[in-house]
Amino acid sequence: MIDKVFIEKDINKLKLIIFLLIIVVLFRQIGLFLKGFAFPYASFKLLYELREDMFNKILNAMPYEIQKRNLGDIISKLTNDLNSLKDSLYKLGVDFLSQFFVVIFMVGVLIYLDWKLFLAIIIAFPIFTLSLSFFGKIRQKYSKRFQESMADYTQFISQTVQGFEILKLFNISFLKDKFKNVNKKVFKNQSKSTLFDVVYLSSVEVIAYSMVAFIILYGGYRIIKGEITTGQFFAFLGALLLLVNSIQFVYRGLLHIKIVQPVIRRIQDILNLPQEEDKGIEFTGLKDKITYKNVNLEIDGNKILKNINLTIKNGEKLAIVGLTGSGKSTLVKLLPALVKGYTGEIFIDNHELREYKLSSIRKHIGMISQEVFIFNDTLRNNLLIAKPDATDEELLLALKKAKADFIEKLENGLDTVLGEKGSRLSGGEKQRISIARIFLKNPEILIIDEGTSALDVETEEYIMEEIKNHFKDKTILMITHRLSIIDIADKIVVIENGKIIEEGSFDKLIERKGTFYRFYTLSQNG
Ligand SMILES: Nc1ncnc2c1ncn2[C@@H]1O[C@H](COP(=O)(O)OP(=O)(O)O)[C@@H](O)[C@H]1O
Ligand SMILES: [Mg+2]
Repeated sequence: MIDKVFIEKDINKLKLIIFLLIIVVLFRQIGLFLKGFAFPYASFKLLYELREDMFNKILNAMPYEIQKRNLGDIISKLTNDLNSLKDSLYKLGVDFLSQFFVVIFMVGVLIYLDWKLFLAIIIAFPIFTLSLSFFGKIRQKYSKRFQESMADYTQFISQTVQGFEILKLFNISFLKDKFKNVNKKVFKNQSKSTLFDVVYLSSVEVIAYSMVAFIILYGGYRIIKGEITTGQFFAFLGALLLLVNSIQFVYRGLLHIKIVQPVIRRIQDILNLPQEEDKGIEFTGLKDKITYKNVNLEIDGNKILKNINLTIKNGEKLAIVGLTGSGKSTLVKLLPALVKGYTGEIFIDNHELREYKLSSIRKHIGMISQEVFIFNDTLRNNLLIAKPDATDEELLLALKKAKADFIEKLENGLDTVLGEKGSRLSGGEKQRISIARIFLKNPEILIIDEGTSALDVETEEYIMEEIKNHFKDKTILMITHRLSIIDIADKIVVIENGKIIEEGSFDKLIERKGTFYRFYTLSQNG
């Protein structure tokens, strides 16, 4: 434009340039749309699918794999890591890809305009990239420190809220001081990270403009000597500024390739969670008996169960007693495959547990334990998980059998929202909801793992009576410390250190005057 329009004053060239300008603006709008919407949309869609995939992988994971991981870590993989993946994708896709093409195009333009000048720049170029990568590394280091201190901060808050009541009774000022440190680190690292951001960007500018000065010097010299025209030189300068700008973006994109690698690895940890297989023989309910044959279980080198041999007949009520940590819960959790890795065999009727389709086994087993899980949802939805098609009448009946009369106090009845982890209920109230779920699920095999421990004796007796009637013909495995409710049991086994040391009817074990007798007399006196 400088040479043809301004200097030679060619009106047709002016028209052509305006026409080209309009076309360029049109293409630019298309590009901006792709960059501003289509690309983010595609990355959001990818994240949507990833979230769904990761959640399903967690749902189908082996219980043991979830237990051994830490909750905060899983959550951060599904939130923070996905977020940084999005950021990196965005930077890579938008900045890197688009600017990469700009770089290539501009290099072509520069060579076309003046290859000698371009060569001079190429020779000076390494200084430019070296300083960039130097400042880039410092910047990355502080940005990482900032991320880490943010993670500490989040964890601190979430743990404080989780253990709030207990913490209140301990030394709060201790926490205050600890938090001050955590908080200070966030502040310091955030400030440093921003400082080096600015230093980095300004170093880019200083270097870029020094190069420009060098070019003006050398270019000006070539114009004066008549080797290039003024127009050529200005076109070169314009193209060069675009190139410098684009190289910055490409470099930033390259940094994100580095940042995204560990993030992808963390996400893959969830995507590669060992999955449960759901195939095999369909279990339709117990016909004859469950038999544990020489069952041993070792976790991390500790022998948890030792040579368990046990037969539970269909319809039998089995009580398991033993000291804390003796292996009672582990023994019963083998049945719904919440614990895996045993040796020996567990026969359910004619087939080994491992031959059955897992979901069909779990469908027929109900469990009430000390740990009750309440969703932050309505009472109704908390019950429907046990029987999605239950009517309100069924729900109320189940609650009645579980002696959950406290629901009359709830302002919205079944529609009352129970709060996070059922925070508005007492331990005993939560346990009664879990018992109501069992009446709704109506399983073939019922496991009660200290599932009435939070109840008073009177309520417990009432509920056990209801359970006895309701599950008259069903198989029940119950673990209890309260020997007074053991009279439901047809058979009692006593476990010590992962071994069955006594087995038989109540009368037989009392007569034997062994461990069970000792437990029983102690509990009677207490
Ligand atoms: N997932 C696990 N990983 C490691 N050790 C475990 C695991 N589950 C249980 N244990 C250990 O197995 C033993 C038996 O636990 P458990 O069956 O819960 O006992 P009980 O129910 O009789 O109190 C305990 O020593 C416990 O620490
Ligand atoms: Mg237990």
